[in-house]
Amino acid sequence: MGKFSKKIAVAVMSCAALMTTVSIPVIAEDAAPTDIKDRTSPPDPVSELAKQDGYKFEDGRYRNKDGDPQPVATKDYMVDWGTWNGFRRYHDACHVCHGPNALGSTFAPALADSLKTMDYSTFVGIVSAGKKEDRGGTMFVMPSFGEDKNIMCYLDDIYTYIKARSLGIMPPGRPNGREDISDEAKKAADECTG
Ligand code: HEC
Repeated sequence: MGKFSKKIAVAVMSCAALMTTVSIPVIAEDAAPTDIKDRTSPPDPVSELAKQDGYKFEDGRYRNKDGDPQPVATKDYMVDWGTWNGFRRYHDACHVCHGPNALGSTFAPALADSLKTMDYSTFVGIVSAGKKEDRGGTMFVMPSFGEDKNIMCYLDDIYTYIKARSLGIMPPGRPNGREDISDEAKKAADECTG
């Protein structure tokens, strides 16, 4: 055994020792939507971070200078209300095709990658109108959700969740906590769902 492989063996052993003694906050890889607890967290870290990022809070969510909704996630994965709600709604409505954690499937693209280049209005346009593509005789169909209030009324939330995944500010799994819903967000959702 050379010097090199001995080093690896030591590293593996100390790693195993670490795993048995230290409990690391686990972000579940396959968090089921039904499993999500309604955990609250002090809102300050999230809103402070949003301020540092230069976002304004308008109509119930954080927005950039163009008015596009933006996710805010602290180092310990406390998120704004929209991102948290978007996580739940994505895993209700989109993950069956687009895979858990926005990582894609054999059938539909990884939206965490799509949003690295796709802008907000293109995203909204595709979800509203749908999209289909014939690839070598197989039809890949993205349904149109334009008439579905359960999606359209929360599409900004879904967008911010996927954006958080694409920016790399949220690991796979559910957020560790969230801000409370604001009066504005509640009002906007109530008015939209009618
Ligand atoms: C029934 C399966 C299915 C469901 C459910 C679904 N999608 Fe899709 N989606 C697709 C397929 C397939 C494509 C790729 C279509 C193509 O190849 O043109 C797609 C494409 C997209 C694209 C374009 C991605 C790109 O890189 O061009 C976006 C954005 C998108 N979907 C968002 C969503 C959102 C948000 C939801 C949940 C509200 C959702 N989809 C639910 C199947 C689905």
